[in-house]
Amino acid sequence: MRLLFVSTLLATLLLVTAKGSNPLGPDQITSFVTFGDSYTDIVSKGDGPDAQAWPVYLSGYTNTTLFPFAKSGATCSNNLTFRPFPPLFESQLPAYFDFLANETSPKVGGNDTVFTLWIGTNDLGVSALLTGDAEIRVPGVSLVDVTQCMVNWVKVLYQQGNARVFLFQNMIPLEHVILYAPDSYPNRFWPGLPRNTTQWSLQMDEMVKSGNALTKGMLRELIADGELEGASIAYFDSHALFTDILNHPDQYLNGTAPLNTTGCINSCVFDTPTSTGDCTVVPEGPERDSFLWFDELHPSEQADRVVAMEIAKVFKGEESRWTTWLS
Ligand SMILES: *[C@@H]1O[C@H](CO)[C@@H](O)[C@H](O)[C@H]1NC(C)=O
Ligand SMILES: *[C@@H]1O[C@H](CO)[C@@H](O)[C@H](O)[C@H]1NC(C)=O
Ligand SMILES: *[C@@H]1O[C@H](CO)[C@@H](O)[C@H](O)[C@H]1NC(C)=O
Ligand SMILES: *[C@@H]1O[C@H](CO)[C@@H](O)[C@H](O)[C@H]1NC(C)=O
Ligand SMILES: *[C@@H]1O[C@H](CO)[C@@H](O)[C@H](O)[C@H]1NC(C)=O
Ligand SMILES: *[C@@H]1O[C@H](CO)[C@@H](O)[C@H](O)[C@H]1NC(C)=O
Ligand SMILES: *[C@@H]1O[C@H](CO)[C@@H](O)[C@H](O)[C@H]1NC(C)=O
Repeated sequence: MRLLFVSTLLATLLLVTAKGSNPLGPDQITSFVTFGDSYTDIVSKGDGPDAQAWPVYLSGYTNTTLFPFAKSGATCSNNLTFRPFPPLFESQLPAYFDFLANETSPKVGGNDTVFTLWIGTNDLGVSALLTGDAEIRVPGVSLVDVTQCMVNWVKVLYQQGNARVFLFQNMIPLEHVILYAPDSYPNRFWPGLPRNTTQWSLQMDEMVKSGNALTKGMLRELIADGELEGASIAYFDSHALFTDILNHPDQYLNGTAPLNTTGCINSCVFDTPTSTGDCTVVPEGPERDSFLWFDELHPSEQADRVVAMEIAKVFKGEESRWTTWLS
């Protein structure tokens, strides 16, 4: 008991005096620029057509201007995993650089703009690293290349994009989304095709954990090499946050239905690759906020609010339990 008290006290003291605390002033951040996939896209939204994506919530919670570049379906680079969606490197970054070069664009960058990236779900998943289809995965490409690509996003924006404040969002425990869960069912993202769900879920768990360790290490290496002088880099641990939601749903989910971290709001069973799907949809309204997942791959709107509330703390110069400042 006493030991517990002492160690708690010690942990608190460390927290208060820790180097790596939030360097941002309470009113410093006025805008943010987002990159990523459908988890972050505000038009083709992962949390449903009637819902609001997390960046829009974040903009509202913090009164900051959002410049959205994330696109649904994206991977880091089509040179690594070829998918017909606007990738970060060949589409989103060029779009941002065009925007930056345009004289009529508002000023972004410097110390009042945060640059965010949340990517990897499509790179690791079906029709990419997991299934390794010959026409999609470039031969020899591995998790190392994909994570190196994610980290290069920081470097490229620092060198050419006037970016100095970054928030890097790591990958969630994807073995818990229904598409990759051990007790999965045939769904719109993998309709009626054979697979070993136990195998998939083990592999996603391993890839996500390894990928997250790689990006954190690679970012530290970039910083140690002096390549990001004067930049502030927050590592947002989505993996730990979503794990905590899975373990303590009552602290995050607040709908009127029984709390649900295994099913989803819009669930469709596809018995064959060409079937239309047998769907069960929770009606719009307060029941939906009981769910962690919107569909078999995407977080729900309430999960998105949680993400936005945590990142809002970071923007306001406060500490978030899920954020580590690497520099
Ligand atoms: C939001 O920011 C704008 C411009 O930065 C400012 O004029 C406005 O008063 C702010 N609103 C609130 C509610 O803080
Ligand atoms: C993708 O390949 C093209 C052509 O080889 C190259 O110019 C580009 O730099 C590559 N992009 C990335 C992110 O590696
Ligand atoms: C600059 O931005 C404006 C407004 O979005 C757009 O109409 C114009 O075509 C852009 N100019 C260039 C050179 O891209
Ligand atoms: C942000 O940068 C501007 C211009 O370089 C500088 O005047 C200002 O003091 C900086 N603010 C903070 C909080 O670092
Ligand atoms: C599926 O994969 C698991 C884990 O590798 C293995 O134990 C199991 O035998 C496999 N099931 C089938 C039907 O192949
Ligand atoms: C969770 O939601 C799914 C899909 O609506 C449903 O089938 C399942 O019974 C729910 N589980 C719980 C514990 O309510
Ligand atoms: C759940 O909480 C969020 C704030 O996190 C709020 O916007 C939402 O309306 C709440 N949902 C319900 C059903 O009360």
